[in-house]
Amino acid sequence: MSHSQLQTPYFMIDEAKLIQNLETAKKLKELSGVKLVLALKCFSTWGVFDIIKPYLDGTTSSGPYEVKLGHETFGGETHAYSVGYTAQDVLEVADIADKLIFNSQSQLAHYRHLVEGKASLGLRLNPGVSVAGQDLANPARKYSRLGVQAAHIDAQVFDALDGVMFHMNCENKSADSFVALLDSISEQFGQYLDKMQWVSLGGGVFFTWPGYELEKLAAALKAFAEKHGVQLYLEPGEAIITKTTDLVVTVVDIVENEKKTAIVDSATEAHRLDTLIYDEPASILEATDGAPHHYVIGSCSCLAGDQFCETQFAEPLQIGQRLHILDSAGYTMVKLNWFNGIKMPSIYCQRSSGEVVKLNEFGYADFKRSLSQWSV
Ligand SMILES: Cc1ncc(COP(=O)(O)O)c(C=O)c1O
Repeated sequence: MSHSQLQTPYFMIDEAKLIQNLETAKKLKELSGVKLVLALKCFSTWGVFDIIKPYLDGTTSSGPYEVKLGHETFGGETHAYSVGYTAQDVLEVADIADKLIFNSQSQLAHYRHLVEGKASLGLRLNPGVSVAGQDLANPARKYSRLGVQAAHIDAQVFDALDGVMFHMNCENKSADSFVALLDSISEQFGQYLDKMQWVSLGGGVFFTWPGYELEKLAAALKAFAEKHGVQLYLEPGEAIITKTTDLVVTVVDIVENEKKTAIVDSATEAHRLDTLIYDEPASILEATDGAPHHYVIGSCSCLAGDQFCETQFAEPLQIGQRLHILDSAGYTMVKLNWFNGIKMPSIYCQRSSGEVVKLNEFGYADFKRSLSQWSV
């Protein structure tokens, strides 16, 4: 099937690019001894898990259904974490999770008896330091509810814990700043870590970014693991899936109101939500910075400010023309929604052989069912 025959909007995951990231992950594991679990919150399109499985050790989750999905479709180690579990959630996930990590000492006290003898028990700690560009995504932000701060720790809880989890990075491209965070963790929590079997350092370490100092990261992880006698984990999401996937759209109209806007058959609010939430403009494959034809790439939703980006093209855009919105895998497919009844993008994978495989498609029946199954 050639790409031009596919109906837009659609996501195209490129296997060769995915493998490139996974090879870097493999190198990091070999150099450092760290284990890597895929953060399903970022990417859980299980149709390509067969490509990822040989490289990573398992999955980590942020809610009960992700635990089940990881266990069913990925295998390996299944880590379960949630900011807030119900008793029912804990009962459901304890049987299938290898590690169950609570967010607070109160959740741990309430539910540990449901986990004992089943999963390895963990607690999230909050180091109070972080590398995160935006406050919204900063786990160490003021009044953070994510994990236990050093000052609030009841030292006795560590007597019956197997491990702890920290997560304090968001798209951190600097090995030096990550090493500084590790030093701070060692200093604040070292006495507790020495009693643990495992420590997860969370996600947000952008070790697949071009030029990332992988050896420096690996050496620091190795030294930390040896110092505290623990098995280390990282929970990468974005680092695994970065720059692997285009969201392909069609220009359906061009309007002008001081600026030209090309309206496409997709919307950030429905199909690429983080563009909107974090106000981070998308990049378009066909665009050329500084070229003469300036356009807003606007969405077809009703939200006035819903746009992908403003950019320039060498030639005027035409109605019917396709555009490739780059780097559209992380935190996109997991957040798709039916706002405005806009057609949901299909999902494809371009295999390294060139073959295009359909992983998902959606229709009116999916839209209708998402709204009600039964009427009054
Ligand atoms: C606890 C935890 N682990 C892992 C991740 C994955 O982060 P990333 O996709 O930036 O690597 C996140 C992201 O929010 C997280 O909250």
